[in-house]
Amino acid sequence: MKKILLLGSGELGKELTISLKRIGCNVIACDAYENAPAMQVSDKNEVFNMLDKEKLSEVINKHKPDFIVPEVEAIETNVLIDAEQNGYNVIPSAKAVNLTMNRDRIRDRAKHLGLKTANFAYAESEEELILEANKIGTKVAVKPVMSSSGKGQSYANSADELKVSWKFALEGMRGNRKRVIVEEFIDFDYEITLLTILEKSGKVTFCNPIGHFQQRGDYQYSWQPADCLHDVIKKAQEAARKMVLDLGGSGIFGVEFFIDKKGEVIFSELSPRPHDTGMVTMFTQNFSQFDIHARVLLGMPLPEIKLNQSGASHVILAEENASGDYIIEGLGEALEDKNVDYRIFGKPFLKSYRRMGVVLAPSLEQAKLAAKKIFVKAV
Ligand SMILES: Nc1ncnc2c1ncn2[C@@H]1O[C@H](COP(=O)(O)OP(=O)(O)OP(=O)(O)O)[C@@H](O)[C@H]1O
Ligand SMILES: [Mg+2]
Repeated sequence: MKKILLLGSGELGKELTISLKRIGCNVIACDAYENAPAMQVSDKNEVFNMLDKEKLSEVINKHKPDFIVPEVEAIETNVLIDAEQNGYNVIPSAKAVNLTMNRDRIRDRAKHLGLKTANFAYAESEEELILEANKIGTKVAVKPVMSSSGKGQSYANSADELKVSWKFALEGMRGNRKRVIVEEFIDFDYEITLLTILEKSGKVTFCNPIGHFQQRGDYQYSWQPADCLHDVIKKAQEAARKMVLDLGGSGIFGVEFFIDKKGEVIFSELSPRPHDTGMVTMFTQNFSQFDIHARVLLGMPLPEIKLNQSGASHVILAEENASGDYIIEGLGEALEDKNVDYRIFGKPFLKSYRRMGVVLAPSLEQAKLAAKKIFVKAV
């Protein structure tokens, strides 16, 4: 039985663990808090701060896994580079995990490979942020170089707004680098995630593009297939292929693009693992993004990926400023539409706007209607 050390035990890790368990793996789920979603379905777990270098090395040496599989960005990735050099398999590769942990590294890489991106610069102080934003000369997006799910992210149009953005970014920042990326605001027509599969042999395969809608920098709903022109899909595939081949290894990647009104495909960011917007594949595809990641990381042959039906996912969120214990009501009502399905993640407590589950349905309209019937209530 292959032993998997899963670094990060949220909802994506939970579904990946289920896929791995189904094909005979032993999973040790890690995260900073007890009873995290993936820990509820794994063989063993470890609770520790994955940004702690010594602790992370200790856990790797204790379990000696066949595969180290990161599920979040907040990991001391230098430890993974050392582990790979010492013969461990890091998924998809230590390089991919290291470059994507910080927005600046992966963005620089995309630029180096000639991908089209929004104009961007970096800033390490409020003054520098104002200076760089003025050079860009449009409304800008400001994001900490290390954060996820929209944390610390805002838009600004003036010096006063930039000052607020700088403060907000500092509060939402993970890790210890006071650095933000400031980028041209793209007034896109729509945005997509292109799930891109890289096999060890270097073969690259794509799932149907996923359209998604974000609020507060966080995903609200997604649908597959996104209605893209053939030319848009081709351009996105070409860019995604370049990126994953450069990063190397094996696994599934979520590659995010903005599509503007002229049909230009603009690279936004990439995650070297299943993507939150890709939860819709649990409903639409014969093999979900989790099943695919599980097989490909083990070096197994990739099955034929088919879109069984169109579908949509819609998040079930906690309210703003929620905390503590909770109950979820209205699930039965949501299932009155006989084509609706859902997943509850089992997170042990609420946080402001925390993602607690997802509704799956054949159309966006049905997903939205069902999600409206579901309430997460603090008790
Ligand atoms: N330059 C931009 N122009 C317009 N919208 C943007 C820009 N940058 C980000 N956004 C919006 O914010 C969303 C989140 O941004 P991004 O993917 O960079 O952040 P994130 O925190 O990594 O999110 P996640 O981890 O959930 O993918 C984007 O999907 C997009 O909707
Ligand atoms: Mg994103």
